[in-house]
Order: sequence, then C-alpha cells, then structure tokens
Amino acid sequence: MKIGVIGGGQLGRMLALAGTPLGMNFAFLDPAPDACAAPLGEHLRADYGDQDHLRQLADEVDLVTFEFESVPAETVAFLSQFVPVYPSAESLRIARDRWFEKSMFKDLGIPTPSFADIQSQADLDAAVASIGLPAVLKTRTLGYDGKGQKVLRTAEDVVGTFAELGSVPCLLEGFVPFTGEVSLIAVRARDGETRFYPLVHNTHENGILRLSVASEDHMLQGLAEDYAGRVLKQLDYVGVLAFEFFEVDGGLKANEIAPRVHNSGHWTIEGAECSQFENHLRAVAGLPLGSTAKVGESAMLNFIGEVPAVDKVIAIDECHLHHYGKAFKVGRKVGHATLRCDDMATLEQKIQQVEALIQS
Ligand SMILES: Nc1ncnc2c1ncn2[C@@H]1O[C@H](COP(=O)(O)OP(=O)(O)O)[C@@H](O)[C@H]1O
Ligand SMILES: [Mg+2]
Repeated sequence: MKIGVIGGGQLGRMLALAGTPLGMNFAFLDPAPDACAAPLGEHLRADYGDQDHLRQLADEVDLVTFEFESVPAETVAFLSQFVPVYPSAESLRIARDRWFEKSMFKDLGIPTPSFADIQSQADLDAAVASIGLPAVLKTRTLGYDGKGQKVLRTAEDVVGTFAELGSVPCLLEGFVPFTGEVSLIAVRARDGETRFYPLVHNTHENGILRLSVASEDHMLQGLAEDYAGRVLKQLDYVGVLAFEFFEVDGGLKANEIAPRVHNSGHWTIEGAECSQFENHLRAVAGLPLGSTAKVGESAMLNFIGEVPAVDKVIAIDECHLHHYGKAFKVGRKVGHATLRCDDMATLEQKIQQVEALIQS
C-alpha cells in the first residue's frame, strides 16, 4: 500500500518510520527542497496548490493523509475527487480555524474559554469590554507553537493589537488560570472504533511544547475521553486526533484540537504498545487498531534549536533519540528524546540528565 502525505516534516518522517514495517510505501508532497521526510519515500517537490503534482500524487497512492492542518481547502477538495482522503475535508475545515473549532466545542457542550470573533480593532475593544482582561488574542488560522497570538494584560496592550497580528480574522479568548495542561491522543478507525492513549501532562516554554509526561490513571481520563469522543463522532473522524485541554478547577476546558499525529504523542513510539504514528496509519488504511496501553513510564523532551551531542544523549540508559535531520535554527523543533523506565522517581532523574545536556 502506498500512502500520500501532504507535508514532509518530522511528522511525515515518523509516519514513514512506523508504516515501513507494515509494508507501506510513502510519497510526500512538500515544496521545501530539504523536507526531512524526503529520504523515507518519494518527494514530490511542489506547492500545495499545484494541481499537476496533486494529480500525480493521487494517481500514485492508495490514499492521502496530512501531517499539518493548514492545507488549503482547495487542495483537499481537489484530491478528494481522485483518491480517498483521511481525515476528511470537513475535519480539516473545523480544526484549522479557531472560531469553527471553539464553536463546535460549545455546540457539543464541551467547556472552553469564553471567546469572540474579531474582524477589526472595534470588535476587539468591544470583546475586551465583555470578556475582560487578561485575555489572549489569536489569529483564527495558521497559528502554531505559540505564533500568531498575544496575551493582553492591560488596556495599553489592547491598543493597535489587531493590526499587530496582521489585521487578519482573530479570536479573543478569556485567559485561563490553569493548574496544568494535558492532551489526549485519540484514534478512530473507518468503522468508528475509537481508542485513547493515557492523558499526557505538557509543559510549554515560550508557547512551544518542551516536556510531555504520560500519566498513570489520571482522574480526568474519563472526562477527557468523553469530550474527545463527542468531537470524533461529530466529525465522523478517521485517524489520530490530538485534543489539548487546560486543567482548571478540578475539571477540563478545551483549548484546541489537531487533526493529525501530535508532538505530545511522540512518547508512544517507545512508550506504548502501538505508537500514534502506526495507529494513524492503521486507521486511515482500514486496518485493525493497535493497543494504546503504555509500557512502563515515559517522558518526551523536545530539542528546540539544536540537538545536544548524540553520543551523550544515547549514553543515558533507556533514552531514545529522534534526530529529525533538519537544519538547526533558533525556536525550531529539530529532535526529541523519549525516556523510559519503570517508576516516576527514576523518570524524573532521567529528565534532569537530558535537561543538563540541553543546557550545556
Ligand atoms: N486562553 C488561554 N489562557 C491561558 N493560556 C493560554 C490560552 N490560550 C493559549 N494559552 C497558552 O499558549 C499555548 C499555545 O496556545 P494554543 O492555542 O495551544 O496555540 P498553538 O496552536 O500555538 O499550540 C497553550 O498551550 C497555553 O500554554
Ligand atoms: Mg496548542
């Protein structure tokens, strides 16, 4: 079976690493000459709107999936004429726009921060008056790793901020004084079977995910699965979906969903029976889903900007390095390490060991 992937970054690369043992082959559509998934399959180097190359991809593969959600809607619609596309165009339409996404949470009775659609500075001023400060202004589309958003704390922060974010459609959200951030990686098969990984506790730095720790019997697991289950059903979703939540007042508020494999699920490569990457491929290919049970304790640390000395990282026992082969650049995710062990105290020590390498 040949799988077409829109986007050829590290998520595409890890999809191919998971699918190759299942006998799958891969083709990646990505305009970047140095797309890091390219060595693992065929690389169609073209823009996402290039219909000749989209047609070529559709002719060559059995199905198409995505490694990022900001794919133009026309690209998805065009491909869908010739080849099955998972997740669906509708799932992408909702997940790529924060307004549609939060409106869906509200319609499904899933708690989420108060929010307002912002089309002008006047809309922003009015929304600040009703939602209050602090608040967060985010572009409706194309934001990632904390880009395209600004925390508004004082009345001065509000002045001219609509223009500062590019005068594009935005969403204003009430600031959530969360006690923690967790994510749920879910997978839904073509026949509707759904499985969930254990909740992951996430720590961000400058808006970028830094550390994920898979939890043991989290008391909010059932609630998170209930909320995510509603979304999966509503979208008739196929594939892996990541759900980010704020932990607040002993409950959960939905932050956002990602219609794809997710950074907070990378630990599943070594830390779960079947990884998020393999389960995504199983789901889109119509194969039986794999077990989402975790194997001992796991944590994942991102390498942002550069990867520490390889020999030092892999000298740590049960530390699994993933070097994406990308050029090092400040603020860019260039690799990660998954730490595995049998108890939380040892896991904490290992995290400190890797942290020390990052800082040195
Ligand atoms: N309404 C909010 N209240 C408090 N913190 C927020 C809020 N929205 C976002 N954040 C913080 O910013 C991070 C990135 O925001 P998010 O909406 O998840 O965008 P991205 O698409 O960049 O991941 C969140 O993980 C959280 O730490
Ligand atoms: Mg996020």
